[in-house]
Amino acid sequence: MIITTKDLTKKFGNLTAVNKLNLEIEEGEIFGLLGPNGAGKTTTISMLCTLLKPTSGAAKVNGFDIATQPSKVRSSIGIVFQEPSVDDLLTGRENLEMHAMLYKIPREIRKKRIDEVISLVGLEDRADDITRVYSGGMRRRLELARGLMHHPKVLFLDEPTLGLDPQTREHIWSYIKKLSEENETTMVLTTHYMEEADMLCDRIAIMDAGEIVVLDNSANLKKKVGGDIVLLKMDEPNLERIRKLSFVTEAEMKDGTVQIKIKDVSKNLQKLLCKVGEIHSVEVRQVSLNDVFIHYTGKEIRSGEEEGGFWERVAHAEVNR
Ligand SMILES: Nc1ncnc2c1ncn2[C@@H]1O[C@H](COP(=O)(O)OP(=O)(O)OP(=O)(O)O)[C@@H](O)[C@H]1O
Ligand SMILES: [Mg+2]
Repeated sequence: MIITTKDLTKKFGNLTAVNKLNLEIEEGEIFGLLGPNGAGKTTTISMLCTLLKPTSGAAKVNGFDIATQPSKVRSSIGIVFQEPSVDDLLTGRENLEMHAMLYKIPREIRKKRIDEVISLVGLEDRADDITRVYSGGMRRRLELARGLMHHPKVLFLDEPTLGLDPQTREHIWSYIKKLSEENETTMVLTTHYMEEADMLCDRIAIMDAGEIVVLDNSANLKKKVGGDIVLLKMDEPNLERIRKLSFVTEAEMKDGTVQIKIKDVSKNLQKLLCKVGEIHSVEVRQVSLNDVFIHYTGKEIRSGEEEGGFWERVAHAEVNR
């Protein structure tokens, strides 16, 4: 295990931001922390990066204790954080040079590394502009470049693609994947983008109120929640009646649509449609990571990402009556 935590806890006054966290992350793994605002994701990562002292509990990163060997931890990790931290008065390239010196990257390979990461995040044309005139997305890309430059054993990424355009985001995903495959870099990332977690992470921990509520790979998480989802548009749904059907596990109204979780859709869809009365349209889709998230946290993440596109549709049928 490259990262282990034992009852890792952080309190801010009366508030327990992270509560007795026990985690084991394997070398080379891309590990995702998902959770609503305030769940404790950044606090967890900050403790592992030694930027915050735990209130109690312990953790090891790369074999080093975060409390007693913080500088050893720091030199073996890379950090890409939520808060922007690039120096405004330097150019993009100068920011990277400063970081390269800080991490003692040998002079001979410094330029090559810098060029490599600059092209990776597509900042070739703007690398020599001062970062004060960068757009938000360009800053983000520069930070990512910086975090990757010294080829750390473990890379912590706090919402790495927040606010980036879809193209850049995908670009960065493929790089994260490549890095993890080629260099065996272990990645711990937080994200609000379900698609990102789904695409990238080997395992996902869903956090809420400082605790991990469930942890598994994406396919198993979906399997655990189970079933298929049928969306019905109709005038006067009788939810009570729908809920009483033996193959229905959940039914609720959402955005003017009846959302029904059912077992074995291929067998039961016909039965359902016969029982509910007059409908305008029907749509069937698989459980998504977003459903898993809502199931465990009772909250919905609004990132704009999961609207359309991302929800895989297994079957889509319009029924006009
Ligand atoms: N320095 C601090 N002082 C006091 N409270 C803090 C501090 N940092 C974080 N908190 C509180 O700890 C809790 C967890 O915060 P944290 O930033 O870890 O959440 P998060 O999961 O990263 O959320 P987000 O998705 O919004 O980034 C929140 O209630 C937050 O208000
Ligand atoms: Mg955060």
